[in-house]
Amino acid sequence: MFEIVRRDGMARLGKFTTTAGRELETPALLPVVNPKIKTVTPRELYDEFGFRALITNSYIIKNTEALNKEAREKGLHEMLDFPGVIMTDSGTFQSHMYGTVPLTNPEIIEFQKAIGTDIGTVLDIFTEPDWSEEKTKEAVDTTLERTKEAAAMKGDMMINGVIQGSVYNNLRTYCASKEAEMDIDVHPIGGVVPLMEQYRYAELVDVVMSSKMGINHNRPVHLFGAGHPMILAFATLMGCDLFDSASYAKFAKDDRMLFIDGTFRLQDMQSHDCQCPACRGISLEELRKMDKDARIKLIARHNLYEIKKELALIRRYILEGRLWDLAEQRCRSHPALLDGLRRLKEYRAFLEKFDPVSREGGLFYTGEETRNRPVFYRYNNRLKTRYIPFTDKAAVFEATEGKPYSRAMQAQFAAARKLGYTPVVLSPLGPVPEELDEMYPNAQSVVPMIPDARTEAEAEEWTAQFVMDHFKESIEGADIPEDAEGELPDIDVIRAKAVARYQFGNEAADALFRGEISLKKSRKTGKIRNVFSDGEHVLSMRAGDGLYTLRMEGARRIVSACPEPRMRVAVMDDAVPFVQKGRNVFAQFVLSADESLVPKDEVIVTDKDGTPLATGQMLLVPSEIMFMKKGIAVKVRSGKEKEEDD
Ligand code: GUN
Ligand code: ZN
Repeated sequence: MFEIVRRDGMARLGKFTTTAGRELETPALLPVVNPKIKTVTPRELYDEFGFRALITNSYIIKNTEALNKEAREKGLHEMLDFPGVIMTDSGTFQSHMYGTVPLTNPEIIEFQKAIGTDIGTVLDIFTEPDWSEEKTKEAVDTTLERTKEAAAMKGDMMINGVIQGSVYNNLRTYCASKEAEMDIDVHPIGGVVPLMEQYRYAELVDVVMSSKMGINHNRPVHLFGAGHPMILAFATLMGCDLFDSASYAKFAKDDRMLFIDGTFRLQDMQSHDCQCPACRGISLEELRKMDKDARIKLIARHNLYEIKKELALIRRYILEGRLWDLAEQRCRSHPALLDGLRRLKEYRAFLEKFDPVSREGGLFYTGEETRNRPVFYRYNNRLKTRYIPFTDKAAVFEATEGKPYSRAMQAQFAAARKLGYTPVVLSPLGPVPEELDEMYPNAQSVVPMIPDARTEAEAEEWTAQFVMDHFKESIEGADIPEDAEGELPDIDVIRAKAVARYQFGNEAADALFRGEISLKKSRKTGKIRNVFSDGEHVLSMRAGDGLYTLRMEGARRIVSACPEPRMRVAVMDDAVPFVQKGRNVFAQFVLSADESLVPKDEVIVTDKDGTPLATGQMLLVPSEIMFMKKGIAVKVRSGKEKEEDD
């Protein structure tokens, strides 16, 4: 059972529970334990490092007489002395390394069951990156047959259905979507070790993204063989939940230390200042002189601490809504990773479906790739289709450091308005008309004031296009005299409606802004707080992100003005009384949801006939809800009864 607890982009903080009730928080890395050589013992992994899951190889255990016997008698958990989740691999990787293995799929599935594995693995076929499409298709079909066979015989054991398909996106999506229909429990993405070894990260991005397009979102995704701390943030951002690392031990054997910015040989290191519990107080000289076995052990432990530290950081950035910032920074530690980040741009339409409309934390620009984030893709798309200017003349201003722009440039904007111009800021992240300058991401992003050439050129291009699409004429803001005379139009209602259009679409905004409009503003900040239409409270604006929460009256208006399923999530009869009381909507009670909803979108919860019951905020993505068996789909804010008490 997998439950998404928090999310950021495609990344999720999850809780995975095995059939035996062992729990694992994700993202998680599973250290690879070689049952013959325990560089760090499983007990230490659990107690000292806090790893709640490990992976070991059932094929090696099966082929080693003593281990085979012990594992069958005691079970894996007792044999390894590990109380956490144990995943076993099947021998596929050995066939990648050494050619075919003398083993059948039912044999290895039976064996994994017999030794009490929590999560066993099918004997998939490792699809190599240099294979032809034809050969890959055959291997994928065999893998699918074996997966079906494994699912039928799994019993109480959970099963890894590995996604193969070499570098062929169509085959990856095909394999993933076939497996989505099968009774498996985890979706590992396989056949990627050679891509990582050869630093082919752009192709790795293709593989992960095309696999994600087909999977069942109710299952964790494991990126098989990814364990370098450098790649964890980026892979998590793409929606990978599980990782495994053999390198912490393998590298230790030849004196290689993992760091967040690379792998370094002890003999090449100029200094050693790591403060992890393994290294603290030990100088480079002392480390080099150490007895070989002690040194291997120390380096392996250092490597594990480095991984653990990064996982904790990833968790924090997800909670803060800033994982894009971290992933972009990490992708700068190796040019090949930067290729991966650049390739991710191709998937921004897909990523946009998972990207929240707003985040708690501000958005930091880390480099020109930042503009490829789905948040800007969405912003620019919505400007095209949902922006309606109040005047037909634009005055284009250069961005200032101060935000929101309408405060930093209050006098200039007022002069422009008096002359009938709409102020538009040429910002590095796209054009910002005054009406939209307080909402996410415009006011909540931090950008360097000295632009790079590409950012400058693109910002100018986007702004010119925006002005051309929406205005009849334009001038430079700098040309407007600050003492311009004229009547200053009230921008508040214009702003209020522009944000509603941006957030809900034009049809819904028209329904919300019907008849006489009045606003309640904050006495302290002067910002819009509540919107009343014909005396009824329809919207409240949040101070943090400048976007709206929807009131019940607003919801009723939208329901009568916009055809189904616009902004709606319909629930089963059983859930109706709970929703009316203001309880959250769980995924398993959802009948249907507007496909265009994204996380943190305002939604209208209705019964099966479309009668609005409550408003709330979307936490999952519609394509996920249909798969999820657990977890909150909509955080309900105001059930009918709850709002009446406000
Ligand atoms: N370990 C690393 N890559 C793979 C893979 O593609 N399949 C399996 N079963 N194990 C792996
Ligand atoms: Zn260290």
